[in-house]
Amino acid sequence: MAASGSAVGLGNIWGFPTNAASNGGAAFLFTYLVMAFALAYPALMAELIIGRHAKANSIKALQSISRGPRTRVLAVFVGSLGILTVSFILSFYAIVSGWMMAYFLDPLARLAGMTEAAGWLTADSELRNGIFVVLFMALTIHIIRAGVKNGIERWASRLMPMLILILLLLIVYVLTLPGAMDGLRAYLVPDFSQVANPRLLVDAMGQAFFSLSLGVGTMLIYGSYISKGENLPVTGSLVALLDIGIAVIAGMLILPAMYVALAGGVQIFNPDGSLVAGPALIVSVLPEMFSAMGAVGVFVSLAFFLLMTIASLTSSISMLEVPVAFAAEYRNMRRGRAALLIGAVVTLVSLVIVLNFDPLFDLVVNYATEVSQPLLGFFFCIFVAWIWRRDAVLREIVQGSPEAESGMFWKVWPVYVKFVCPAAILLVYLG
Ligand code: PHE
Repeated sequence: MAASGSAVGLGNIWGFPTNAASNGGAAFLFTYLVMAFALAYPALMAELIIGRHAKANSIKALQSISRGPRTRVLAVFVGSLGILTVSFILSFYAIVSGWMMAYFLDPLARLAGMTEAAGWLTADSELRNGIFVVLFMALTIHIIRAGVKNGIERWASRLMPMLILILLLLIVYVLTLPGAMDGLRAYLVPDFSQVANPRLLVDAMGQAFFSLSLGVGTMLIYGSYISKGENLPVTGSLVALLDIGIAVIAGMLILPAMYVALAGGVQIFNPDGSLVAGPALIVSVLPEMFSAMGAVGVFVSLAFFLLMTIASLTSSISMLEVPVAFAAEYRNMRRGRAALLIGAVVTLVSLVIVLNFDPLFDLVVNYATEVSQPLLGFFFCIFVAWIWRRDAVLREIVQGSPEAESGMFWKVWPVYVKFVCPAAILLVYLG
């Protein structure tokens, strides 16, 4: 539940549908499914297996499977780059999550008759962004301080079922509205001329890596908390299936909602004819649709932004856990102190981005998710398939899954992470 909570986040409910919207609808969906199952799932397994084997933070874990001084240096490099990358991801993620919280409070303020406050909550300002970054980070730090069992696991298993329920209810409701079916068509009828578009391939891979929280050590740390009795290939498949499933289902909410907005007179196309994506979609198109719905709109908007806030929170705690686990295990810092200290530093970075939004936000997003994450994914494959001993990998997998040696997974996966994954990542990366 915690690993799914990490995977399911803004990447699914926002990133995936908007990527699909701007990349030919179902053509993107199709490419994404291939990327997610063929590249991201094997990479996810690599991280979970290394993590459970080493029972330690990413740097120590990679060192423990290293052979010789050179690979140990590479382990420190990959582990540290992961910690740095995830901290930067958290710094921009917290800004967007802060918007979600502000938009969640907006209908409450309106219900209470506080129209001025509601206006402030939904108007883009540095003050609002700064305040909500701090609030969101405080919540994240609070959960991480409470520990793995009482913090992460408890909150993930409370929030995830709620998230799925809200998502399904919203879809059922939106699909009954005029215009929804056009949106569904735009989402599900593929424009296959787009499939070989290199931009689409890069976007789909980046999206798959981001969505499964890969490369930065998050899944490795969560893997280190999985007991030896657990069947890893099954756990990994469940996490991947749930993550991919929720992304696909979220598309059935967002695209129809956009076309409902269109039917209600809201502009959903850019001047060049492409669909509005990025921040404008969530903070302008959808709210306009909610307000066009009249009285029900207030409740729908409340449910939607609650969903977004929950999805963000179960992901942000998994991000903060990476540097905190490192500091707690490696530097012997007390967990609560580490969470507070590191959380404060990330909050400061977020505030710097808020104050210099224009070049910094896109820069950090692109660097972290398109440059750093796939590169790290590549190195994880190298570690598990080229550096770690094959018999040791098998010994780790058969714990909790004794029949694994003769099963499909062990026949396909090792060859896969050894050749196909690194080659494909490089190809898409360099292409
Ligand atoms: N997977 C999360 C999402 O889809 C984001 C994430 C990235 C979480 C990296 C942890 C690490 O929103």
